[in-house]
Amino acid sequence: MAQNYAGKQAERVIGHDDRDRAAHTDISNPDRGGVETSKPKIIDDHDAIVKITGTTICGSDVHLMHGVIVQTEKGDILGHEFCGVVEKVGPAVKDLKPGQRVVNSFCISCGECEYCKKKLTTACEKTNASKLHSKLYGSRMGGIFGYSHFVGGYAGGQAEYVRVPLADDNLLTLPDSIPDEKGLYISDVLPTSYHSVTYTGVKEGDNVAIWGLGPIGFMACFWAFHKGAKRVIGIDNNWRTEYAKSKIPGLETINYTKLKSDESVPTKVHEMVPGGVDVSIDATGGEYGKGWTHKLELGIGAEQDTSEMINECLYSTKKFGRAGIIGDYVGFTNHFNVGALMELGITLVGCGQAPVQKYWEELREMIENGTVDPRIMLTHRFKIDDIAKGYYMQEKRQDGLVKCFVETRFSAPRAAGTPELTTL
Ligand SMILES: NC(=O)c1ccc[n+]([C@@H]2O[C@H](COP(=O)([O-])OP(=O)(O)OC[C@H]3O[C@@H](n4cnc5c(N)ncnc54)[C@H](O)[C@@H]3O)[C@@H](O)[C@H]2O)c1
Ligand SMILES: [Zn+2]
Ligand SMILES: [Zn+2]
Repeated sequence: MAQNYAGKQAERVIGHDDRDRAAHTDISNPDRGGVETSKPKIIDDHDAIVKITGTTICGSDVHLMHGVIVQTEKGDILGHEFCGVVEKVGPAVKDLKPGQRVVNSFCISCGECEYCKKKLTTACEKTNASKLHSKLYGSRMGGIFGYSHFVGGYAGGQAEYVRVPLADDNLLTLPDSIPDEKGLYISDVLPTSYHSVTYTGVKEGDNVAIWGLGPIGFMACFWAFHKGAKRVIGIDNNWRTEYAKSKIPGLETINYTKLKSDESVPTKVHEMVPGGVDVSIDATGGEYGKGWTHKLELGIGAEQDTSEMINECLYSTKKFGRAGIIGDYVGFTNHFNVGALMELGITLVGCGQAPVQKYWEELREMIENGTVDPRIMLTHRFKIDDIAKGYYMQEKRQDGLVKCFVETRFSAPRAAGTPELTTL
């Protein structure tokens, strides 16, 4: 919370930079009201209004709830994953019509800057006005739906309607053969997990270890096999290891709470794969301190992120191997073993926020032809009225929740083979 407050104050001092934006930013709630608010309107000519038929909660939303993402304000409408029906389009929208079923990209692309032209859309230069972003990182990333004013302050999709700026670049149509319960996950989980294995170069015959078996790490395990990995090891601290093993044939797991006192995650990985894995991927998140030192340092603000999982990745990776970070990290960390990185010759990559538009057509095709079935991670269905309770379940990884589908009053009847409604 202190981090969030400090972020807001800092932006006040250094100013906001909304020159040359491709869309109106920082309209995160039309009324700044409570639960009830007015329907969003077309503001820019390239906007669309989408009537939401499905949304969900991301592991990233839990970081917002914990106040570790700066510049979140009371009244902001959250949610960066949604699908629905186009209700209205502005006069400059070319490719979409009212009535079409669509899914969003969690990141907002302008479609025309240097990065968007290369489909590195999360690096968009024109959809985020937060100056603090450039102060902290040297340059600024693009906007994200419903994810604080640090990334544009756009209203999100955990709602009944949403304004989608630059609609042609940020909505993908869904064919009738893809129900919402599959198509929704094109907005984040599928491209993010796919990007993590693509960007770290997982290839035929590789041994891979993945930290965190939430939806992102779980699907990354799936994609690692898809890319031809020989062995994949998923690491977590709870029932999710068993769940993942039951859904992904061949997956090996480590539940580190069950290790012996003289064992650690890296020693276990080396025991399973002598010499270490070719690729390590961290899909956890920097706020999850493991030992007491980092818990203390995170708690008092002496660091913003723990380095424990990244160090474990380094110690578990083969010399001259590769390690990637796809879980969210926001700032500075202590006790990072830069020596291990240098001496072992490991290539450590920040995967960035995943550029959805780079992969979304390919993923839509893979859902259509059955290469991937997102239902393997789908465990719950909630009503939007229960979403606040869903956040707490997600936070505590309770009751077998991996990924939920959240319905609104506009949702189609439940698709075959998907979870029944749970009332919270
Ligand atoms: N880069 C991107 O584009 C992008 C997109 C979506 C989500 N994310 C981030 O990816 C991360 C995972 O997202 P998710 O939806 O799967 O979240 P999640 O919270 O459901 O999953 C995180 C998992 O990590 C596990 N974990 C925590 N500490 C661990 C440790 N020390 N070792 C092993 N496992 C540990 C947790 O038990 C949990 O199962 C989050 O940080 C999220 O913010 C990044
Ligand atoms: Zn997300
Ligand atoms: Zn752009």
